[in-house]
Amino acid sequence: MKIVVVGKGGVGKTTIAAALARFLGRDGFSVVAVDADPSLNLASAIGIPRDVADKAPILFDEEEFIKSRTLLPNGFLVLNPKVDDIVDRFGVKGPDNVTVLKLGEVRKGGTRCLCPEYAFLRALLSHLVLGRRDVVVIDMVAGLEPMSRGAVRGVDLVLCVVEPSIKALDVALKMEKLSRDIGVKNFRYVVNKVRSSGDVEFVEKNINSEVFHWIPFDEAVFEADYNGVSLLDYKPLSPAVKALSELKNKIVAQFLHRK
Ligand SMILES: Nc1ncnc2c1ncn2[C@@H]1O[C@H](COP(=O)(O)OP(=O)(O)OP(=O)(O)O)[C@@H](O)[C@H]1O
Ligand SMILES: [Mg+2]
Repeated sequence: MKIVVVGKGGVGKTTIAAALARFLGRDGFSVVAVDADPSLNLASAIGIPRDVADKAPILFDEEEFIKSRTLLPNGFLVLNPKVDDIVDRFGVKGPDNVTVLKLGEVRKGGTRCLCPEYAFLRALLSHLVLGRRDVVVIDMVAGLEPMSRGAVRGVDLVLCVVEPSIKALDVALKMEKLSRDIGVKNFRYVVNKVRSSGDVEFVEKNINSEVFHWIPFDEAVFEADYNGVSLLDYKPLSPAVKALSELKNKIVAQFLHRK
């Protein structure tokens, strides 16, 4: 199963993707956590020491390698580039049976076309063949561009993270529309940084449907980030961790136990 976490900048995508990856790993799933955000902080949120994570190769920095897989000699794009060896070649092992794959930055304009990277990301998400106990969790770059380029077309579940703010909701509603247009099967809202039940009501009124799950505002999340450690190691009993574990349970019950 492939899960992608999207949303406006700073809403909590990395926090949620990292916790989900580790909780699913603890449940015995084999998890690949893909860091598709150029700031590359998923590995540390998962609890991989910085010196280890820094040594791991960044896929999109391997320009010649990407080109060799995605471009034909005549410059046309390969529609289904080979991706089945990518996790073994580029992955870095973390705790709880999670392997992190660092994608890095899609360079825009100027010297090179951004097509090969997006073609590769699309291929990774749609042609990567997974077994029943394999899960890929993608921490997506903020904003709408990956969705408008169809990079999430091959995923099973889009988790759209929102804060109770009009700006975050505006982005989220556009993402919902885009995901419908490109045929995403399951799009679910997760409200983060909730301070009162009114926050969830506010979001539901604006999205005109029920949210899938909500996570409380919790100083422990900020503190873990501040210290550059994984929230699950820093305060495993904090309210946010509890809510994140419940989010994992819902996903397992609704999407991973179905035939
Ligand atoms: N439930 C929460 N309670 C309190 N603070 C939170 C919570 N979730 C996230 N934060 C804080 O919000 C900030 C952004 O979180 P995070 O990095 O997970 O978001 P993001 O969507 O990945 O951001 P970016 O778009 O920059 O990649 C961090 O400082 C984090 O500590
Ligand atoms: Mg992030």
